[in-house]
Amino acid sequence: MKGIILAGGSGTRLFPITKAISKQMVPIYDKPMIYYPLSVLMLAGIKEILIISTERDIGYFKKLFKDSLEIGLTIEYAIQKTPNGLADAFIIGEEFIGDDTVAMILGDNIFYGQNLTDYLLDAASLKDGAVIFGYYIQDPREFGVIEFDEDNKAISIEEKPARPKSKYAVPGLYFYDNSVIKKAKELKPSPRGELEITDLNRLYMDESKLKVIRLGRGMVWLDTGTHSSMLKAANFVEVIQDTHGIYIACLEEIAYRQGWITAEKLGQLAKPLMKTGYGKYLISIIEE
Ligand code: DAU
Repeated sequence: MKGIILAGGSGTRLFPITKAISKQMVPIYDKPMIYYPLSVLMLAGIKEILIISTERDIGYFKKLFKDSLEIGLTIEYAIQKTPNGLADAFIIGEEFIGDDTVAMILGDNIFYGQNLTDYLLDAASLKDGAVIFGYYIQDPREFGVIEFDEDNKAISIEEKPARPKSKYAVPGLYFYDNSVIKKAKELKPSPRGELEITDLNRLYMDESKLKVIRLGRGMVWLDTGTHSSMLKAANFVEVIQDTHGIYIACLEEIAYRQGWITAEKLGQLAKPLMKTGYGKYLISIIEE
């Protein structure tokens, strides 16, 4: 399976922070935002990744991840000229995806919690159809919303409904079979002018090929789309890292635990980072 991180958009909701830099480069506590979604793809076992961003910002991602091969990743880059919608990622990424299955994560979504890796591995084993998630929130009006029948079968999916039919929002993490490319090309722009991921998911639902995994209470999903939600996410990361002494989205650690790099390599990667808690944390993992 291949992985796409969609990290474009105009970022206007975060002005003036994003007037000159990409939203997904803004720090969430001690790392650039994009580290968090990248860590999720890595936990799903995905090593071939495409980052899609704007013409203005793509160069910064290339710089940030210029050594990604050292942690076992192959990262490619593509430009989305205008923010035509989330489903556009599969048209831009057609060549990159090739004949493979693909996961897509939004560059501003953070996931953390118990059993996350199990959920991810389950979804990444998909051969046919699609896997998305449902996350309970009080007010899901700003998101895709999924409705279930009494047998827990997903029966409707709507984008930003004024009157949501359930309290289950759809987070920005999606797993698809190869027909996603063809399906994305069939989509028509919505009234807001975008190729909607929700319309794409509805195509799978109509074929009875949409599996929805409901994330339980032990899972945290944070969307960092506003100043306030960004601060909340940063505070969350700080609290977890400080109280548990366990890092969230430490890419080198994940690569090591996945068996993609040796302890010796981890030590080398830690060296230039020794002035930070991040570097010291890497050393503590080797000593474990
Ligand atoms: O966060 C989850 C939600 O993401 C889902 O529940 C919705 O179903 C889905 O449509 C999407 O909601 P938004 O409409 O709020 O997404 P937004 O426009 O904020 O875009 C999400 C991220 O993707 C954002 O960081 C910018 C980036 N993006 C967005 C568009 C439309 C792109 O890179 N390219 C794009 O064309």
